[in-house]
Amino acid sequence: MNNTPFNLNKHIAEYHYDYVTVLDDIVPPALCDTLKERVERTIEQGRVKLVNHQGLGTREVSDAGGQYLHYIFQGQDVRDHLSELTAIYHSLLPLVSLVTSQAAIVSPHSRSDINIKVYPEGGGTLGEHYDTNAITVLLFLTSNREAPLRMQIPRAHPSKPEPWIEHRHIYAKAGSVLVMKGREILHDCEPTVTEKKITVVLNYYTRDDVWRPEKFDAFVYDGVDPEIAA
Ligand SMILES: [Fe+2]
Repeated sequence: MNNTPFNLNKHIAEYHYDYVTVLDDIVPPALCDTLKERVERTIEQGRVKLVNHQGLGTREVSDAGGQYLHYIFQGQDVRDHLSELTAIYHSLLPLVSLVTSQAAIVSPHSRSDINIKVYPEGGGTLGEHYDTNAITVLLFLTSNREAPLRMQIPRAHPSKPEPWIEHRHIYAKAGSVLVMKGREILHDCEPTVTEKKITVVLNYYTRDDVWRPEKFDAFVYDGVDPEIAA
């Protein structure tokens, strides 16, 4: 267990300046293991979809057209099989509001409010994209030495002749919660090699901003080309 006192100001500063901050030891290891085992069992039973497509992304869905290979638990899958995550989702609201300095609300979009992405060993991945929701929170259920979240942070300063891109790689740690401005930062998941990675994606919004693109669900969950999605 981490005995360092919780430093809220540090997380607020990191979120606003670095676009991302990680809070460790939020969900206890035993609960992470319980949830992880249930996730794996549910996949073994064939109850969730495998997302497997590439080259479909467009500007309209904020996606650079990369490869996607992961199992996906959609909102109802989570409610059916991992109801603890609904409690965690709501419990994190005050913390998310404090770290982001915004009045965060839970998502009004039931298919995407809480999702779980399970990246299988040997190539599980997620293409470069921007998130569409205002505040993205990831809860990691596994600790990984590979398949980091990769972020491309735009930087500029009057002392430098040109703006530049800062590359950040953040490795999953079970029980940690990552809060990021996913709408402003291009990001992806490096492909897995030998490890499985399990990430719970918690989508938050603000009262004045619950926008989600019309064709987004068909693209994200069904791999429907945004050019032809109704
Ligand atoms: Fe994302």
